[in-house]
Amino acid sequence: METKDIRAMFLEYFQSKGHQVYASMPLVPDDASLLFTNAGMVQFKDIFTGKIPTPVKTRATSAQLCIRAGGKHNDLENVGYTARHHTLFEMLGNFSFGDYFKKDAIAYAWEFVTEILGFSKEVLYVTIHESDDEAFALWSAHIAPERIKRMGDKDNFWQMGDTGPCGPCSEIFVDQGAEFFDGPEDYFGGDGDRFLEIWNLVFMQYERDKEGNLKPLPKPSIDTGMGLERVMALLEGKRSNFDSSLFMPLIKKVESLSGKTYVYASGASFRVIADHARSVAFLLAQGVNFDKDGRGYVLRRILRRAIRHGYLLGLREPFVYAVVEEVCAQMGTHYHYLNERKNAIMEQCKAEEERFFETIENGMQLFNKELEKLKEQGSNAHFSGEVAFKLYDTYGFPLDLTQDMLRENNFGVDLDSFEICMKAQKELAKANWKGSGDKLKEGDFNALLSTFGTNAFVGYTTMEQECKILAFLDSNFKQTHTLKESQVGYVLLDKTPFYPESGGPVGDKGILMRDSNIVAEVLDTQKYFGLNLSKIKANIPLTAKDCVVAKVDSARLEISKHHSATHLLHFALRKILGVHIAQAGSLVESNRLRFDFSHPKALTSIELEQIETLVNAQILRQSPQMCENMAITEAKAKGAMALFGEKYGDVVRVITFGDSIELCGGIHVKNTAEIGSFYILKESGVSSGVRRIEAVCGEAAYRYGKNAIESLRSAKESLKAQDLMQGIEKLKEQVKELKSKANKSANNSKALESQTLNDVKLIVLALEADTNEAKALVDNAKNENEKVAILLIAQNDKITITAGVKNAPIKAGAWVKQVAQLLGGNGGGRDDFATAGGKDSSKIAEALALAKDIATNALT
Ligand code: ALA
Repeated sequence: METKDIRAMFLEYFQSKGHQVYASMPLVPDDASLLFTNAGMVQFKDIFTGKIPTPVKTRATSAQLCIRAGGKHNDLENVGYTARHHTLFEMLGNFSFGDYFKKDAIAYAWEFVTEILGFSKEVLYVTIHESDDEAFALWSAHIAPERIKRMGDKDNFWQMGDTGPCGPCSEIFVDQGAEFFDGPEDYFGGDGDRFLEIWNLVFMQYERDKEGNLKPLPKPSIDTGMGLERVMALLEGKRSNFDSSLFMPLIKKVESLSGKTYVYASGASFRVIADHARSVAFLLAQGVNFDKDGRGYVLRRILRRAIRHGYLLGLREPFVYAVVEEVCAQMGTHYHYLNERKNAIMEQCKAEEERFFETIENGMQLFNKELEKLKEQGSNAHFSGEVAFKLYDTYGFPLDLTQDMLRENNFGVDLDSFEICMKAQKELAKANWKGSGDKLKEGDFNALLSTFGTNAFVGYTTMEQECKILAFLDSNFKQTHTLKESQVGYVLLDKTPFYPESGGPVGDKGILMRDSNIVAEVLDTQKYFGLNLSKIKANIPLTAKDCVVAKVDSARLEISKHHSATHLLHFALRKILGVHIAQAGSLVESNRLRFDFSHPKALTSIELEQIETLVNAQILRQSPQMCENMAITEAKAKGAMALFGEKYGDVVRVITFGDSIELCGGIHVKNTAEIGSFYILKESGVSSGVRRIEAVCGEAAYRYGKNAIESLRSAKESLKAQDLMQGIEKLKEQVKELKSKANKSANNSKALESQTLNDVKLIVLALEADTNEAKALVDNAKNENEKVAILLIAQNDKITITAGVKNAPIKAGAWVKQVAQLLGGNGGGRDDFATAGGKDSSKIAEALALAKDIATNALT
């Protein structure tokens, strides 16, 4: 039997008992209070607490991927050292929303375990909360009373997080036999191997608030969770989940990579790597990226823990990515996105591994040195917080990795001094992960939902709608009958043309009118639990039941162009770069779009060119929009692109433009031609493995093009060129010429030979230069010398004679004049500075001799 068979048996069993089957929700929940989805009930949390109305079908079942590597349920440090803890596992669950309670939950679980899975009643035990006599009586109908154990809050009271729904629970255990008895820890709920918990039935009765108080839930409910990996191992008769056919191929892979043989007793490192590679594969595939805080940091910690265990096995270069490949091969048949994104995931993983392998060696040396000191100090000593911080800060060792390595030697970190070091980086340390765009969820939403239900969106076909105000919420989401003048609040319209922000596109703005007067400005539109609410600022006092005309701002047209362009861009990216491209986020506004996607490296200019060209080709093809509602299975069969993390119903809206097919509830142009044209402005990296393209289309593209043309025109003007390229070429030539001249004169000025006569520096030279350069050299000589007489015969297109005299008995004017005459020219000037022209270049040598003679006579 394979896991897929167990999964199917479970879901079919509960479906036959009237349960609706739900798909596994993403590992990153739409819930800021949770780091990761850690139980099957997470997707039903708001139903349990009554924040949203109970669905028509009050029974549900799912096989949910869960991560327990942070937050309240954190199994990270156990993984590898026990037979049954995992960072990632699948939870099979059945749920009742105020429908059946303890009696049926117990009966179903018992039937499934004994009849369907076929466990012998002789090996089963159950635990209940110590106060739960009702559960005791109900279980007694199935199992001998001595096999029912009462336990305290620690073991038999379950809660999702520090806040949220919770209640007493009852757990089913399988006795694996006395030979597995591991000592005193091996009680029910302990860490030993003999009694293995397989299923937890939570009798949801309370909600815990932020202050820790328990308040009763509206309707007692059921939440259960059974570990698929544990059941699999038991059915295969294996002592440990890691020995089952689910993990063995991964362990074998680690064996082949490391050249070491796996032995259960000393095989923790193999198990850690096998387990962690699964989490890394799924988290990357679902769009979480390595990061310095938040969820991305948990992912980094998981990978680094795996790497460190590989290091223990002698591995000195990236290897986890190869185990990740094995995970994809094995689980990709059920979780197709693993296969689709396999190459990108592996590249991302490998790049991150390379980063850590650069520092691990030095980090390990520092760690070992400190450890040696510690051992000398004795068992009460603590590992220096400063060193732990240095390991963290400089060598990338997460604190829990250092703690993990110390645990093997029975030491701990001096956390106080670690914290002090960390304070300097408080902002970082807080690891304040931003939620996943969660909207405020406290408020009177359920009151509105119960009275009015969800309101209809009519904006696909119209931008203006007569409608009635059903209700208001104030800025704290408390229901109010009126809004005062200038008050900001939220309005629920019976039918609304305003599109709520979802995924990329921003929410609609606009106005509410009555009798041609604007009675409110619509500032934004968002969806809360299915309610489409517009944030407004009232211009006059407004009352619920008022009738108004709702008008969407014309910016919507430009938003829809940018939205349709993101579909074309998504398609083009997959076409040019490959099917591993998954959307990681987007922003769609009226004047720009931003599209984030998974890709391991920067795009080349050729790729960008190809992508831009392909998008424009699709625009020019004038593909009409096709919008169909169809079953999700049909849409997927058509190859429609779906976004990870998006909740889709059974029937989905599919938007097609030519070859681009996407599941999407948003507003689009009717024909790609409306998009006009599309320009990529920028490509950049967002985080490791995620790239971003910023682009414009529609009116913004026209403006972009116009600005570009305008800049070219003024460039031509300032270059005084008809043709810009010719102008630039000319400019380049001029620059080249100037540079070479500058070089020459620099050389000339270095080469000015001189002699000194009676303290006067005498310079008489012929050189290749123009008049200005010669003048500059003369000035220079005068500036630099106290007593100087200089005469230069500069030859370029023409011959110029320039002379300068400072504190010396020569008259420059007469000096140049005589020299000029010899050269067939004329000129003169002041006593200290004079210039003249010459013609006969054949006489330059003679002229130089003359100039020198005149000077020598005058100076000696
Ligand atoms: N939510 C319960 C658990 O996670 C079933 O154990």
